Amino acid sequence: MSMNPKNILEVRDLVVKFKMDEGTVHAVNGVSYDVPEGKSIGIVGESGCGKTVSSYALNRLLPRNASLSGQILFRERNGQVIDIAKLKPESKEIRSIRGKDIAMIFQEPMTSLSPVHTICNQISEALILFQGMTKKQARNRTVELLKLVGIPQAERRVDEYPFQFSGGMRQRAMIAMALARNPRVLIADEPTTALDVTLQAQVLSLIQDLQNEFNLSMILITHDLGVVAHMVETVNIMYLGRIVESGPTLQVFEEPQHPYTQGLLQSIPKLTGRLGERVTSIPGSVPSAYDLPEGCPFAARCPHRMEICSIEMPKPVQIGEDHTVHCHLFIGREAAEDAANA
Ligand SMILES: Nc1ncnc2c1ncn2[C@@H]1O[C@H](COP(=O)(O)OP(=O)(O)O)[C@@H](O)[C@H]1O
Ligand SMILES: [Mg+2]
Repeated sequence: MSMNPKNILEVRDLVVKFKMDEGTVHAVNGVSYDVPEGKSIGIVGESGCGKTVSSYALNRLLPRNASLSGQILFRERNGQVIDIAKLKPESKEIRSIRGKDIAMIFQEPMTSLSPVHTICNQISEALILFQGMTKKQARNRTVELLKLVGIPQAERRVDEYPFQFSGGMRQRAMIAMALARNPRVLIADEPTTALDVTLQAQVLSLIQDLQNEFNLSMILITHDLGVVAHMVETVNIMYLGRIVESGPTLQVFEEPQHPYTQGLLQSIPKLTGRLGERVTSIPGSVPSAYDLPEGCPFAARCPHRMEICSIEMPKPVQIGEDHTVHCHLFIGREAAEDAANA
């Protein structure tokens, strides 16, 4: 197995299905992307498009009725490349990666914080377990981490329980807990969706500072294209379990190519817009993941739909350095340009 030396993770043709009584849910349908070491990437798409499932797969946190295929190449600390997709779900190898090398923060902090232990006990535990600290060292480091994530009066608040923290403070405590594991990859799955706008901005800028400071490789997942604009270098736009466009964030924002990306961008409320200004949303709804459509997943909602679109899945077309779009509009264009140049 070989990887590009600049990447810490390479996901290839990732497919995740769930077997249900009613049929098969096609949650992730062939996703590929890279995470360069020390850089941040974004995964953006509407609710239900497979963002969470595809990222849980990286830590093999899928329920028993899930089946997984494809490759999840990960570069370990010793430089060795391991395919996480091939590991047994409860093997020693995955348990040494999960939550440690690859840490996660979620929308709902209580999925990682225990309600019955103090913040000190929970974060110290990770430090004692994973970094071999004594109890006293761990307590001091916990206070440091709480200060780092901006919790006021950390010396006192360290002995409180999560319920004594506000929503924003809990979010910060969860980030401190993820950092306590000294991770190399941080997956942030809609980390600020539950917070009000002011807190969102604060927590996002905290995550960004920590990413820089600890040289973390980060996957930021969100349904809100606005959130990734200033946070990540590369963005992947996902629709119905597939990536439809990926590229350098600025380029994708300035010149979105896929009709879905264009629709998403038009539905971001403009900060300069007047209150109540109409935000266009993409007409139609996302098809069911039980019944994958033939061809392009976006065809049914696409204003530029052609006959081929509901017959054949478009192959990726490179339209700029590192900028790729999966859309028949470009395949035609490429062929026409080739013909014109011939
Ligand atoms: N445990 C599960 N069992 C069956 N279907 C699931 C399960 N988890 C997620 N799904 C389905 O997989 C698809 C992708 O879900 P998800 O990754 O949570 O979307 P997103 O995070 O983009 O909102 C959805 O159709 C969802 O209903
Ligand atoms: Mg999700």
